[in-house]
Amino acid sequence: MKIAIGADHAGFEYKQKIAKYLINQEHEIMDFGTDSLDATDYPDYAVLVAKAVSMGKADFGILICGTGIGMSIAANKVKGVRAAVVSTRFTAESSKTHNHANVITFGSRVNSIEEVLSFLQTYMQASYSEDTRHIARVEKIGKYENENE
Ligand code: RB5
Repeated sequence: MKIAIGADHAGFEYKQKIAKYLINQEHEIMDFGTDSLDATDYPDYAVLVAKAVSMGKADFGILICGTGIGMSIAANKVKGVRAAVVSTRFTAESSKTHNHANVITFGSRVNSIEEVLSFLQTYMQASYSEDTRHIARVEKIGKYENENE
């Protein structure tokens, strides 16, 4: 798979480990930075990853900051992006099955790297539910997004 990844300074070290983990599984990584522990602004990376996903250049996106929250708020400003904060195995699975999340965000100050890698695996192994109630709800998100233009 082609996976877009980005982080701010708080997520930098996790990004490096996640990218290595995915490369070992022979996935293709699009790394949008940041490239050091120097303080940066999370929206700058969120928008790059979110655009790669919305333009179909990546199959899905991963964003890491301190909490995962700022990254998800920023990524969700990009049309067609459904970014979800993932902090448990349950949210990893439901973000994919119920919400059809195409970007997942993690908090380096919330979960250990081992937890994050296992949540990532759970998300990747789950499928977008084809249950009509979930599809209808996801379609409503798109409809409300279009109404706000
Ligand atoms: C940076 O200190 C921190 O605010 C940021 O990584 C993130 O947690 C924002 O949501």
